[in-house]
Amino acid sequence: LLKIGVLVSGNGSNLQAIIDRIEDGYLRGAVVCVISNKADAFALERARRHGIPAVVLDHKSYAGREAYDEALVGILRDYGVELVVLAGFMRIITPVLLAAFSAAVMNIHPALLPAFPGLYAQRQALDYGVKVSGCTVHFVDEGTDTGPIIIQAPVPVFAEDSEESLSKRIQVEEHRIYPEAVKLFAERRLNISGRRVEILPAPDSSR
Ligand code: GAR
Repeated sequence: LLKIGVLVSGNGSNLQAIIDRIEDGYLRGAVVCVISNKADAFALERARRHGIPAVVLDHKSYAGREAYDEALVGILRDYGVELVVLAGFMRIITPVLLAAFSAAVMNIHPALLPAFPGLYAQRQALDYGVKVSGCTVHFVDEGTDTGPIIIQAPVPVFAEDSEESLSKRIQVEEHRIYPEAVKLFAERRLNISGRRVEILPAPDSSR
């Protein structure tokens, strides 16, 4: 069973979607720990409700990003984590974490990358005036939202949209594609070659 560690900072609706798809049998894996840099993240409460260890690791107690990531790696290793899932984790991670979990850190971003990387992606999309935005699950590399793309889903942008209404519509798709990407990883069906992620076919179960 794939051991998943989820890093969060806020509400945790993507964490919830992954937990739900494990519990309903769609995704074979286990969330073995949830780590938040914010003590008041609702995601921690979601973890506890499902009996998942919920750890607060306050970045303010560490001298810098590398020291913080070393502490993160220590906890993730203690729980035997094999895949690190960033789910609304609002911190830039360093090569310290990436080296420890090579090709095994995923992120979800609320835009169709490479459009609108960084913060406030939905605001950026509205300000730009695009008619379609969406969300992207990607492997994390050393840049900000630049890693190899695993799955994307488009979402229409309407004239009357606010940041909130667009975010809500995007999240519906996030909750669908993030568990799907984790499932593909769990089934070892993601093959990274250069910038591209090849999705291998499901093994033929009829034979
Ligand atoms: C999600 O919409 C995710 O795409 C976004 O934060 C939200 C977290 O929601 N991530 C970023 O903006 C990363 N730059 P959640 O806590 O309910 O899963």
